[in-house]
Amino acid sequence: MPAPVPPSAASAPISSERWLDRFRVNATTPDRIPWTDLPTLSPAERKAVTESIREFQLGESSEGRHLQSAADRYALTTGDAAYATTIRLFIREEQRHAAYLARFLGAEGVMLKTRTWADSVFRNLRHLGELETAIAVLLTAEIIAQVYYLALRRATGSRVLRAICRRILADEAAHVRFQAERLAILRRGRTTVSLMLRLSLQRLLFGLALAVVWHNHGDALRRGRLSTLEFWRAGWRAFERAAEQMDPRCYTWDGDLDSAA
Ligand SMILES: [Fe+2]
Ligand SMILES: [Fe+2]
Repeated sequence: MPAPVPPSAASAPISSERWLDRFRVNATTPDRIPWTDLPTLSPAERKAVTESIREFQLGESSEGRHLQSAADRYALTTGDAAYATTIRLFIREEQRHAAYLARFLGAEGVMLKTRTWADSVFRNLRHLGELETAIAVLLTAEIIAQVYYLALRRATGSRVLRAICRRILADEAAHVRFQAERLAILRRGRTTVSLMLRLSLQRLLFGLALAVVWHNHGDALRRGRLSTLEFWRAGWRAFERAAEQMDPRCYTWDGDLDSAA
């Protein structure tokens, strides 16, 4: 396997304390969303995107109990208490995304979804293992979210929805890095074969997830000016960027974490 190329000059992952600071600051950063109680979607936009947003709203609304318990156990074992608190704020940030979309759908007069098969499958997958599995599955959604919200922003002239997408995209970029770096920390010391096997399983899941997302959200994505091929390519580009960040061989590990934050 070729030697991995470091995402930046080789450095340690950002420490939990620094991530905690970032999530705390972000929680109080103004949303800058021009809320209104009136519908802002055109009829054509409404037809293309509302079903899709309903499903993403449900996906963003997880209570994250399994992830939190796994993070709490990890914090107890490693002494990294800040990580457990950071995960709590991370889950709140995802719930904030769900709240944005719920408020938007409410103004459009659209009911929320309470269950979809894709969401149920995804939630069950996250519960299959411990922290590493939960994060690896979650990252699949985080990476796809980066492509989806970019297309959704292009799909609409609604200032409200565009501002929601802008804020979520900013948050998700940090989420991907946060989760990918934790995978690198958890995978530190694993053999090349073990790392390749894990990444192959993630690739398999990601490919399947891309296919499902295109099937379920094609109307919204096409309106966001993505063809099937462009969506596929954008998805894999985002995955490969994150794959570098989850590779422990891309970091230096001498001394404490965070030297490069
Ligand atoms: Fe989110
Ligand atoms: Fe996220």
